[in-house]
Amino acid sequence: MRYLLICAMASEAEGFRAMLASRTDEEILGLRFSSGFLGDTSVTVVQCGVGKVNAALCAQTALLRFSPDVVINVGVAGGVGKGVVTGHVVVASDTIQYDFDLTAIGEEDGLVSSCDGDLSRNLYRAACSVLPESRVSLGRIATGDRFVGDSETAARIRDHYGALACEMEGGAVAQVCARAGVPCGVLRAISDNANEHSEVDFPTFLASAVSDTEKIVLAYFSQKV
Ligand code: ADE
Repeated sequence: MRYLLICAMASEAEGFRAMLASRTDEEILGLRFSSGFLGDTSVTVVQCGVGKVNAALCAQTALLRFSPDVVINVGVAGGVGKGVVTGHVVVASDTIQYDFDLTAIGEEDGLVSSCDGDLSRNLYRAACSVLPESRVSLGRIATGDRFVGDSETAARIRDHYGALACEMEGGAVAQVCARAGVPCGVLRAISDNANEHSEVDFPTFLASAVSDTEKIVLAYFSQKV
């Protein structure tokens, strides 16, 4: 089994890159793909950059070049669900691109891409082996090309789109993987509450949120090997 880990920011990706044994790097379209082993598992790590277009082009490039069996989008997110706050982790059951809007021509609001059920359950279990269960949720993650920093938008993402967390890449990665028939999961630790405090909270909680994702991914792979 070959895994691909896609992270948006250097702070989210570099820890995973550094963990790879027997690492080799390859650059394509300015993206640095690092391949090696986590335990016995073959893993490629890449930093895609922020936002849906970056995420989609990176995911598609990686699928064509590395043919991964499984893709996991890992990183941080804003918490929007009730009680989903900093220190929590959300594993996506599915994703919704909440800024995909064809309602003017009678279509449903948003674009849903599902995640792989087994993978998501296993990521959830791995998360519960690292954090108290009360800090881990399995549910919808909302993706859009916007850093959400106001409670009104956060409430809309929660109430109208049914999401627990918001970020900027997961839905794009999930859509690309769904098209290719490759199982995909999205794992996000909450760095801020997508509100007026986010500007301060995000840099404050980023490192500990990233550290939680690293522990969870390692726990996931140690159950696999
Ligand atoms: N990633 C982390 N926090 C976020 C937020 N509030 N909005 C969008 N993406 C995020």
